[in-house]
Amino acid sequence: MRTPIVAGNWKMNKTVEEARSLVLEMSRNLRDIKGVEIVLCPPFPALLAVSAMLQGTDIGLGAQNLHWEEKGAFTGEVSPGMVAEFCQYVIIGHSERRAYFGETDEKVNRKVHAALSHGLTPIVCVGETENEYESGRTGEVVRRQISLGLANIDPAKAAGLVVAYEPVWAIGTGKASSGENANAVLADHIRPALAGLFGAETAQAIRIQYGGSVTAANADEFFSQPEIDGALVGGASLKLDEFTGIVKAAAKP
Ligand code: PGA
Repeated sequence: MRTPIVAGNWKMNKTVEEARSLVLEMSRNLRDIKGVEIVLCPPFPALLAVSAMLQGTDIGLGAQNLHWEEKGAFTGEVSPGMVAEFCQYVIIGHSERRAYFGETDEKVNRKVHAALSHGLTPIVCVGETENEYESGRTGEVVRRQISLGLANIDPAKAAGLVVAYEPVWAIGTGKASSGENANAVLADHIRPALAGLFGAETAQAIRIQYGGSVTAANADEFFSQPEIDGALVGGASLKLDEFTGIVKAAAKP
């Protein structure tokens, strides 16, 4: 049995002050919910404050990105060691980073290696664009993103990876995939691609989230699918009641 994992990707939202007030309420709402791993991913400046607030809770903390180098002349970047000072998780290869910041599968792969070597759990995002979806290329795209993005990962460490399947056309659009469609992509393409890299047993252990317009109202549709092990939540993770509702839906037996 894979423990579901729900992560809130705050993207570029919330000052430190705003983050503090949201996390104060969230930790009250979420701290006693069992049976689901919960992760908050605020922007970099809020990580220190939020990590202090999450001490003593089971709620994990994640960054939204990292650089693969340890240190040096990389203006504006944050190293894996700096992330690991505060976080247990890191989102890698989000479609916004791929689309706006030139993140290729090769860069994703370097970042995954760097994260694992610092004991961080990578949440590796894959997913097809609307064009790719409409031309029937979803399987080909996610298989390529998995095989290049997760190349040469030590199979002994691979079971700890988290993959997020996020069709780009569903992100921030209010047009979520159907649960059935997302489950089929996981069953037919993502888990088989993971099995090709790491073997069937390890592939069965890897958690795969769905992401893209998940709300408290549609969460059950995803979490009732056998292959879907939680969600990566954008917009709804900034709303206390929405995020609480999604976490509770994932925690249901
Ligand atoms: P959304 O974003 O929930 O706002 O669609 C999901 C994501 O980008 O991770």
